[in-house]
Amino acid sequence: MKNMIIVMFIIFGISEARLKVGFYRKTCPDAESIVGGFVRDAAEFNPQIPAFMLRLHFHDCFVQGCDGSILIDNGPISEKLAVGHQGVKGFDVIENAKAQLEFVCPGVVSCADIVAIAARDAVAFSFGPIYEVETGRKDGFVSNISLADNMPDFRDSIHLLKKKFFDKGLTEKDLVVLTGAHTIGTTACFFLMDRLYNFVPGGGPDPSINPDFLPELMEICPPEGDINFRLPIDHDSGENFDNGILRNIRSGFAVLQSDAKLLDDPETKQILDSYFGSTNQSSFEADFVTSMVKMGRVGVKTSSKRGEIRRVCNTFND
Ligand code: HEM
Ligand SMILES: *[C@@H]1O[C@H](CO)[C@@H](O)[C@H](O)[C@H]1NC(C)=O
Ligand SMILES: *[C@@H]1O[C@H](CO)[C@@H](O)[C@H](O)[C@H]1NC(C)=O
Repeated sequence: MKNMIIVMFIIFGISEARLKVGFYRKTCPDAESIVGGFVRDAAEFNPQIPAFMLRLHFHDCFVQGCDGSILIDNGPISEKLAVGHQGVKGFDVIENAKAQLEFVCPGVVSCADIVAIAARDAVAFSFGPIYEVETGRKDGFVSNISLADNMPDFRDSIHLLKKKFFDKGLTEKDLVVLTGAHTIGTTACFFLMDRLYNFVPGGGPDPSINPDFLPELMEICPPEGDINFRLPIDHDSGENFDNGILRNIRSGFAVLQSDAKLLDDPETKQILDSYFGSTNQSSFEADFVTSMVKMGRVGVKTSSKRGEIRRVCNTFND
């Protein structure tokens, strides 16, 4: 009996409340539609916005959990300035939605949840799968550039990519499926230069690039060209969310080096193959939803001891 009480104490002591779908149903019923409206309006103005929102959620979740830490401006130590977050954008959309939410239901909706909702809507607006997003995250108390040192990097080996996902409680399947997010969005030539011209000792391209694709990439990103020029990460598959990215990766048409690495490992390769078999084909869309919900739970803070509801997303409350 005594042991039982101790065990229960431990369980309730460390386990936090869980996220749930519709967390704001009573406290701020329009929360999700307000965020969706801001994403939609911004996307009408700039078609890159959905990609920004999706990437932002990933980068938020991978440093200290999905807690809005990436949104904070706290000077030179701001997490968002980390090299691993290079090119992450869309902060203004989150901030604008937050301002409206503070007007409608002050002090209720966390910035971390706004990011998660915006990512969900980004997928939907790109004609990807529609899913219910869990909410109830609190915003974290820490932003520190050095905490982003372990972000997955485009030069990482498949071994290291897997490890970085395992460290967040995510599997190699999550790695493959979430990499599929690259079905929308673009990359700067910056991330390709070494892959095209300096991949092997003495110079030369990554041999894993399909020879039918290499000349095209070299033309888009020439050696002395503009490293800020952007190209779609998912070759020839438009801005819509689809499994074209996995097809491209399988056939050597990956644009990003880290995407190509999924072929370097028997397990990730087999998962990739499972979406293209002639029998019992897995559904990328369904699996993507599962993995997004899982990623959205990484390191979340749900107690007011560990997090707060920020009034402004780029600033801690006093
Ligand atoms: C597996 C490790 C990953 C690596 C190494 C990686 C790396 C990159 C790189 C280098 C870019 C180009 C950035 C730029 O040029 O501005 C990019 C873009 C992007 N990533 Fe990832 N990524 C990874 C996983 C993910 C995940 C899990 C998601 C979301 C679930 C995601 C969503 C995106 C999106 C949407 C873009 C396009 C952004 C835009 O158009 O501005 N990535 N990623
Ligand atoms: C940031 O994090 C690093 C590593 O954990 C730590 O050494 C440093 O003191 C932190 N900086 C601030 C200002 O909290
Ligand atoms: C395909 O799925 C069906 C039903 O889920 C199952 O009975 C069958 O054994 C599976 N076939 C293979 C090759 O996995």
